[in-house]
Amino acid sequence: MAIRNIVKQGDGILEKVCRPVTDFNGRLHQLLDDMKETLAAAEGAGLAAPQVGVLRRAVIIIDDEGGYIEMVNPVITQAEGSQDGPEGCLSVPGRYGMVERPQQVTVEFQDRYGEKKTLHLEDFLARAACHEVDHLDGKLYLRLVSRFLTPEELE
Ligand code: CO
Repeated sequence: MAIRNIVKQGDGILEKVCRPVTDFNGRLHQLLDDMKETLAAAEGAGLAAPQVGVLRRAVIIIDDEGGYIEMVNPVITQAEGSQDGPEGCLSVPGRYGMVERPQQVTVEFQDRYGEKKTLHLEDFLARAACHEVDHLDGKLYLRLVSRFLTPEELE
């Protein structure tokens, strides 16, 4: 495994629409393993492949027990309710803003072997899933911020 460089805001890679993963091979597994290591080193809550410069539809989020949820070709098929809360991004260091997201989502995706899966996520995990899937469509959370947190609020 290897820690990969995290692409920062301003790099056009973050604005591209990612292609679906079609080969569930060792190269994908290496990517996902590297993303996990990169996410752990950065102490983030989630990471999308374009954030390490790979324009493929793969994301990782950290679950409630500190484990990893790998989602390949994720699609949010259902969303319900709403929550307003602080959100940040490893590609936008040091900034946090209030973003409204669904309270619950259903995500259909494939695992690293291509098996189809469905997860029902709520609260912070629903927020994280929406944030990461947006990355795959070239969208940063910044466009959804109602207001940025002040330095006092960040402490
Ligand atoms: Co992000």
